[in-house]
Order: sequence, then C-alpha cells, then structure tokens
Amino acid sequence: MADGAMKPAGEAWTTPLEDLHPGDPDLFLNDAHWPYFERLRAEAPIHWCKDSEFGPYWSVTRYNDIMAIDTNHQVFSSEAALGGITIRDAPPDLRRPSFIAMDPPRHDVQRKTVSPIVSPANLHQMEPIIRGRVQTILDGLPIGETFDWVDRVSIELTTQMLATLFDFPFEERRRLTRWSDVATSLPMPGGIVETEEERQAELLECLACFTGLWNQRVNAPPAGDLVSMMAHGEATRDMSPDEYLGNIILLIVGGNDTTRNSISGGVLALNRFPEEYAKLRANPDLITSMVPEIIRWQTPLAHMRRTALEDYEIGGQTIKKGDKVVMWYVSGNRDGEMIDNPDAFIIDRERPRQHLSFGFGIHRCVGNRLAELQLKIVWEEILKRWSFVEVMGEPRRVRSSFVKGYETLPVRITV
Ligand code: HEM
Repeated sequence: MADGAMKPAGEAWTTPLEDLHPGDPDLFLNDAHWPYFERLRAEAPIHWCKDSEFGPYWSVTRYNDIMAIDTNHQVFSSEAALGGITIRDAPPDLRRPSFIAMDPPRHDVQRKTVSPIVSPANLHQMEPIIRGRVQTILDGLPIGETFDWVDRVSIELTTQMLATLFDFPFEERRRLTRWSDVATSLPMPGGIVETEEERQAELLECLACFTGLWNQRVNAPPAGDLVSMMAHGEATRDMSPDEYLGNIILLIVGGNDTTRNSISGGVLALNRFPEEYAKLRANPDLITSMVPEIIRWQTPLAHMRRTALEDYEIGGQTIKKGDKVVMWYVSGNRDGEMIDNPDAFIIDRERPRQHLSFGFGIHRCVGNRLAELQLKIVWEEILKRWSFVEVMGEPRRVRSSFVKGYETLPVRITV
C-alpha cells in the first residue's frame, strides 16, 4: 500500500453529502476514490463542495452530464485567466497561456497549427520509428528479475517519443520527463519540487532550452517537428515567450504522463483480470479493442475543469456564473448507465471507444491516435516476446486528483 493515511471506504457513504470532497489528492494516492464517485453518481450527480484546499467547486460525475458540459464551450470556459483546466487554480501571477486553456477564437487557430503533427500521414511515418524504439527498450529488459516497469518502459518510451516530436537532443531527453513532472506536481516538502519558486526556476530553464531550439528552427526551412511548426506557423510565430512556454509544457505533459500511465495501467489491468490476459495471449488481434479499454479503465486524466460564464441549470442544480466545474472523467467512465459492467476490464467490448478519457468538444485530445498507436505497438511487441509481465507488488500512485497514474510498478517478466 502506498504511503499516506488510508481512508476507509465506509467514510464515502457515511460522510454528510455536503462535506464530500472527491478531489482530495489523498483519495487518489490511496486508490480510495471509487466509492466516493459511486455515491455521488447515485445520490448527488451534480454536487457542490463548499470548501476545499482548491476552493469551492462543482463535481459532475455522470457520463451524460459530463458530455453536456464538455460540448458547451459557450458557457463553460477553459480560459487560464479564469483559473484554467484543473481543479487547482494556478496562482494569478503565474498563469501561463496555452491553447488547452484558451477559448475560441485563439484556441482554434493555435490548435490548427499544431495538429498536423499527428495527422494520419505523419503517424504512418512515425510507426516504424516507434516500433524500433519499443523493440530496443523491451530487448534490454531483465528476464526473471523484479524491476520498475514505470521507469524502464513507460517513462523511457514516452520520453523518446517526445524527443522525436520536438526533434529534441536525444541524449538529453530525460530533461523532458523532469519538466513534465515539475509542471504537474504540487509543491510540497519532499515532493518533486518543494516550493513554487523552485518550480518556476526549473520551468524557466525549460523555456531557455526551447528558446534555443526555436531560434535554430526559425532561421531554417520549415520542418516536421513541433518547434519548427510553431516557429513558422502563422498563428503561433508571434507568440510571447510565456505563451510559447505554456504550449511547450502542454505538449510535454499531454504527450507524456497520460501515455506513460496508460502503458503502466495496461499491465496492471491485465494482472487484475487474468482471464483477459489469457484471452489476449490466445488472440493478439484483440489488441485493437484492448487499447481503448486500457485508456478507459485507467482514465489517465481524472478530470478537466471549466469555469461557468453564465448561470446554468443542470440536474436540478443551478451552477452560477464564475463557479468552478469539475468534470470527473474517472467517474463518467464507470457510469453503469452508459457502460456495461463498468468496473471490469474487458478487452473485447463491443464499443470500446465509448469512453470520456480524451474529452469531447473543441478541446478533445489532439494526440489520441498517437497515444493509441504507441500502446498498440507496445502490446504487439510484448506478445511477440513473453508469456507474462507479472505485477510483483502494489504500485505507488501519484498524489494528484488530476494526473491519475503510477510512480512505480514492480514487475517480473516470464518468457
Ligand atoms: C487535450 C487526454 C495523449 C496532446 C486532451 C484532453 C484530454 C486529454 C482529456 C482534453 C482537455 C480539455 O478538454 O480541456 C489524453 C489522454 C492521453 C493523451 C488520456 C493518452 C492516453 C496525448 C498525446 C498528446 C496530447 C500523446 C501529444 C501529441 C494534447 C493536446 C491537447 C490535449 C495538445 C489540447 C487540445 C485542445 O485544447 O484543443 N488530452 N491525452 N495528448 N491533448 Fe491529450
């Protein structure tokens, strides 16, 4: 079991509804959030938490209500200046713009500039590069010995992928991992960073490094990497340094933690549901439907947040202009009204893409097909090599109600 006090599941059902705070990061650290969301879906699907370390906020926990909010950007804003897209507001002087935290029209033009990087043609070109990297990583792993899957496989692979997307110096690629961790962590004693100042200092290093890459690329002919695309793109070439850093961090975090935690989550899911692992060994073609099921089961981003621009009625409640609204994808993905047997990991579901993990509406994930491609290749290559990637102990989970994932996952490979 991970560090930190375990909250008994019973509390989820006995605490007065008005005192529930499902966004408490300790619940996620301890994998104890599930009954809280089960109760909210049943008893208070649009729920107001009047006080928390993140301030007051609404929780939206049913699939269809989440869809209604996610597809209504006219009322529910992502703007950084209003607080952005996570339950925790960034301190006002430290808010960095990036298109995930913008509303139209600025969002739309910047998104359009970056999205060709993950066009079907580009993905097709990337496939052999990703496969080669996966093969090298997997062939370097020890057999019959316990090691950390998160570090040796999930982080390594997604970091190599990011270095490719940015055309970042390959030997320095772990700096990308560090910046991703720094950007998403909560400053705390003993944490990844201890203070907000430390965090800002590291992010400025990130900016300095990427400014060097920008200066290189802006004076060279346009190329297919993300920095070059931004340096030459009509909507992005006049970005302020702050906006550039915001977008770089968005791409680092977007392409890193989420995919990383899906690669680890898949191993964990197949161990928790051994009959599914047996099905997969017997029929590797099931990888195609297993990949979206991993992404649903894991839900690598537990929520996205919006701010209401006007009063809005939903589920018998009135969300007031200015209120913070948290859409709990982690809960919508377990809504039995929409998904059969939602707590089970089933690799041959009929409609495996019917999940909320990539969001909906104008901010729907740009990198979804790239993430799926990486997972597909990882599992194809695993199945070619070994009969079992066995989980040897409890994972250590991330203390966050936003990034839902693992710090470590001990495993042992059997050929
Ligand atoms: C947006 C999840 C992989 C880049 C999003 C959003 C979600 C999400 C939920 C919507 C944000 C919102 O509504 O506010 C995921 C998951 C992934 C993944 C679960 C892996 C399993 C990737 C990858 C990339 C990426 C590999 C990099 C290429 C982005 C970007 C946005 C985004 C740039 C912003 C889109 C916009 O605001 O229009 N992602 N993502 N993501 N994602 Fe991903």
